[in-house]
Amino acid sequence: MNFSTLRLCIRRTWAMGGVLRHMDLGCRRRLLPIFSRLLSSPVDPPLTAERYGVSRLSFSEVTAQDVSHFQTLLPGRVVTDEGDLRFHNIDWLKTVRGHSKILLKPRNTEEVSQILKYCNERNLAITPQGGNTGLVGGSVPVFDEILVSTALMDQVISFNDVSGTLVCQAGCILESLNKYLTERGYTMPLDLGAKGSCHIGGNLSTNAGGLRLLRYGSLRGTVLGVEAALPDGSVLNCLNSLRKDNTGYDLKQLFIGSEGTLGIITAVSILCPRKPSAINVAFLGCEDFSRVLQVFRLCKDQLGEVLSACEFLDSECMRMVETHLKLTKPLPESPFYVLVETSGSCAKHDEDKLNAFLETAMDSGCVTTGTVATDHTKILSLWALRERITEALAHDGYVYKYDLSIPIEKLYSLVEELRDRLGSAAQSVVGYGHLGDGNLHLNITAKSHSDALLAALEPFVYEWTSQHNGSISAEHGLGFKKRDHIYYSKSREAVQLMQKIKHMIDPKGIMNPYKTIPAMD
Ligand code: FAD
Ligand code: MLT
Ligand code: ZN
Repeated sequence: MNFSTLRLCIRRTWAMGGVLRHMDLGCRRRLLPIFSRLLSSPVDPPLTAERYGVSRLSFSEVTAQDVSHFQTLLPGRVVTDEGDLRFHNIDWLKTVRGHSKILLKPRNTEEVSQILKYCNERNLAITPQGGNTGLVGGSVPVFDEILVSTALMDQVISFNDVSGTLVCQAGCILESLNKYLTERGYTMPLDLGAKGSCHIGGNLSTNAGGLRLLRYGSLRGTVLGVEAALPDGSVLNCLNSLRKDNTGYDLKQLFIGSEGTLGIITAVSILCPRKPSAINVAFLGCEDFSRVLQVFRLCKDQLGEVLSACEFLDSECMRMVETHLKLTKPLPESPFYVLVETSGSCAKHDEDKLNAFLETAMDSGCVTTGTVATDHTKILSLWALRERITEALAHDGYVYKYDLSIPIEKLYSLVEELRDRLGSAAQSVVGYGHLGDGNLHLNITAKSHSDALLAALEPFVYEWTSQHNGSISAEHGLGFKKRDHIYYSKSREAVQLMQKIKHMIDPKGIMNPYKTIPAMD
């Protein structure tokens, strides 16, 4: 299809409500493989402690008395069956594995507070867990930490349909919140491929970025309030619904991105935007990465306020989704693809802007081929090519995953350098990500985990990123896997202050030990 035809294809928009209703169904279908991945049972990864040579800290071990205490506190909501615990002990990528003997399912803040108070007194370590979709090994125990799941904390507390402020428990699933809001003319300011499983508390704890950060900004801006249970069992109520509040330190920010190391987030207040009534998606092919950058520049120049996402993938990613998920490439083969989404409140206005953008992109030669979604089914199928790369990679073998912020002009250089450096040692080296946010997802796959390949990747990737003034974790956090690499992105003084804050709030270090903040020297 050429662009003249494409322009004709950008129809007056469809009702967004309809699109999202279908999206929910589509998402559910799409997310089935995520659930089945978690539940399927190929070979379990080795225990984290063995693979990474970690020593257990001197926490107490869970006794029969502890179990019976929890059974009294949470009748019918204490899991001790090894089979049922398996899913919770292994991460989504199947790269780390703990051996917790117990998982607790509180329903409310008071129960979380009681659990923490007891664990603190008994010196029992805890790993908070939401949807267990985290990609840095933060959501599963390293040893036998007690798992505290937010799965039953899934109630909306209030929604103000004038201000758009949603207050809910931490265990609400992101996609369910979006459905709730869609029915009320609003949308979540956050969207990501794991939406059908991840919890809003998990999203805050990792400060997840996702696909619409370009439009709605980071959770550090959209989250208005947080309620959290602290390690001693006290409850910090900062569940504000105010947009403006300059009274002292902004304590909620401590919990956003703290990956369960300071306490358990129990409730969230978040500012939600109006649901856009017009959406278009263009999927474009580019000959090289410099043209990808030109497309992004053009998007900003010409689409301006209606631009809602700008993502990219390379041809290797396309090969992955075609091979492993049987998705169909919508364009002739190109070295790079860019997905551009517009959303707004006036279909005609957005259509005119998109047409003008496509015309310039074609005339300037930065785009060689493309297609535009004209209906919800096609929008979903174009988004799937980008959103499902993570899942396709997991089918390819063992995945070495890097999530880097890099100055945009250098965003793809590391992928090319690594292909040269690794040669046939890697099965595949792919690059994709949030172009609009300067966030590269660099993934390397191999048949299985190998210390030699890891040594070829690290510290090279981190040194390269640091030398280019990037961040070694753009949006996934540090968790277990990246904790000790924090120094590539933060100064010693900054890490020391983090350690002091951690020690002040959690003096016994029971909250998600071995994760995020390196131990004090
Ligand atoms: P979990 O994985 O259960 O936990 C993550 C961390 O938060 C752990 O350290 C855990 O201890 C802690 N935690 C969880 N709940 C709480 C709580 N209530 N209080 C305190 N600590 C808590 N991430 C992005 O940023 N952008 C993306 O686009 C993106 N896409 C993804 C796509 C796929 C297919 C997958 C599998 C993952 C993706 N991720 C992405 C990573 C992951 O989904 C996000 O990090 C998500 O926010 C994690 O939420 P969760 O509920 O699954 O948390
Ligand atoms: C994404 O953007 O697809 C996610 O962050 C997951 C990943 O990095 O694979
Ligand atoms: Zn991402």
